[in-house]
Amino acid sequence: MSAPPTLLEPDLLAAAPAGLADVGRLVTELTREAAGALRRRSGPLPALTPAELSRLLDTQLPEGPLPRTGGGRGAVLALARSFAAHTVDLADPRAAAHLQPPALSVAAAADVLASVFNPSLDTWDSGPYAVEIERRLVRSLAGLTGFGPEADGVLTPGGTASNLQALLIARDSALRSRGDTRGAGLAGLAVTPVVYCSELAHFSVARASAVLGLGEDAVRTVPADADHRMVPAELDRALASLAEDEVPIAVVATAGTTDYGSIDPLPELAAVAARHGVRLHVDAAYGGGALFSDRLRPLLAGIEAADSVTIDLHKTAWQPAAASALLVRDARALTASTGLRVAYLNPDDDGAAGYDGLLGHSLQTTRRADAFKVAATFLALGREGIGAMLDACHDLARHAARTVTAHPRLDLTADPVLTTVVFRYLPQDPGAAADPARAGAVNAALRRRLLREGTALIGRTDVGGTVRLKLTLLNPQATTTDIDELLAAVVRAGMSEETA
Ligand SMILES: Cc1ncc(COP(=O)(O)O)c(C=O)c1O
Repeated sequence: MSAPPTLLEPDLLAAAPAGLADVGRLVTELTREAAGALRRRSGPLPALTPAELSRLLDTQLPEGPLPRTGGGRGAVLALARSFAAHTVDLADPRAAAHLQPPALSVAAAADVLASVFNPSLDTWDSGPYAVEIERRLVRSLAGLTGFGPEADGVLTPGGTASNLQALLIARDSALRSRGDTRGAGLAGLAVTPVVYCSELAHFSVARASAVLGLGEDAVRTVPADADHRMVPAELDRALASLAEDEVPIAVVATAGTTDYGSIDPLPELAAVAARHGVRLHVDAAYGGGALFSDRLRPLLAGIEAADSVTIDLHKTAWQPAAASALLVRDARALTASTGLRVAYLNPDDDGAAGYDGLLGHSLQTTRRADAFKVAATFLALGREGIGAMLDACHDLARHAARTVTAHPRLDLTADPVLTTVVFRYLPQDPGAAADPARAGAVNAALRRRLLREGTALIGRTDVGGTVRLKLTLLNPQATTTDIDELLAAVVRAGMSEETA
């Protein structure tokens, strides 16, 4: 494939024997180009402003990414070079902003094969082996969560999607128990739906509520304590004082809040939810990875009492996006919401004969075999291998917290629970240090300075209306020296901002 491929070339189709061989060659060439570009890099981001990067692409792709005539292999290799030169390099230990881990090579390689064979999970005949792998993967994850044999689940494109489906199940089951047997939905029942979560819950809870027709206003936030954990007594009080027409749809506990990694008190919340007959969903998109670690697993005690759980394997199991799992304690609740028979996909008689895919488990129809890369990873590394990676990142977070505490120009906001560290730079100028708005502006500016220079990528958040910095540590090969250098770069950038 040096010139643009024609329809007749034997290697045009990836899954044909000649195509498969060409995928191997092309992947080798692409990764060689990428490695060359990576060697020339000096940081986790390109040292370009957004406008400069945009101008560069205008120059590189004058016709955009859809030219009239293709440029063949040369065009692909040039793209790979530039991609590797300008993307975020998550394997750089100075990349510490988001819940976006460096992907594992075993998972990335397995994902190539998933693309080659291109199975889909909706019907058995669209990808029989992938369907079976996902069934087994879901069972293993449900077992790890502590669910029994009635549990089921499904892989989704992310924590946002898993939380949406969990709330769909909760909405439907609450409405069914209120007599909505005809599927008339909320309009058919004059009720006010209510969803409870802590004030630190992920915004996807509110978004799901809006998408499901409950409205964002249905979400009522329950106060959290000083350790950023939902207060069960407050939840109890709120549930006890609901008006006659108010229907509690779900309690959403967070196991691993995005900023602090804090874990809501699951056993207590489960008891409150059970007492009031409300479904408990645990958003363990981030913290679910603790299930792999002998050290951190006790933090999730009580998760087995949930009705459903979100775990993002593209966060704390080092998978390339996307790989999230929604696990449901009672399989019937899952299929009550999404179970579906469609004449052209999974008719009853095919299903009765065992030819059944996972259409009825998902909000999607065509669905990628994300379970394949996850299974490949687990088979290669085992639960202990993933757990050891989380432990290593947890160690780094604790080291970072100690370093921040010891530094006169840095101030720790909270002790780390999992792998995030929230802190701030303390301006040297006493006036700026005493003024939260000015101090916050210095912190925001120093983060952008590091971005602009391409030297470090750190996160930010907001505490009481002022900017804080955040390290999200998900590189298990980073060292304590890397962390010290990263924090030293933060301090240097802060000082430069103050004198700029
Ligand atoms: C606690 C929590 N829930 C849900 C999500 C959403 O996950 P995703 O980005 O995979 O949709 C996030 C993302 O950071 C999260 O931290």
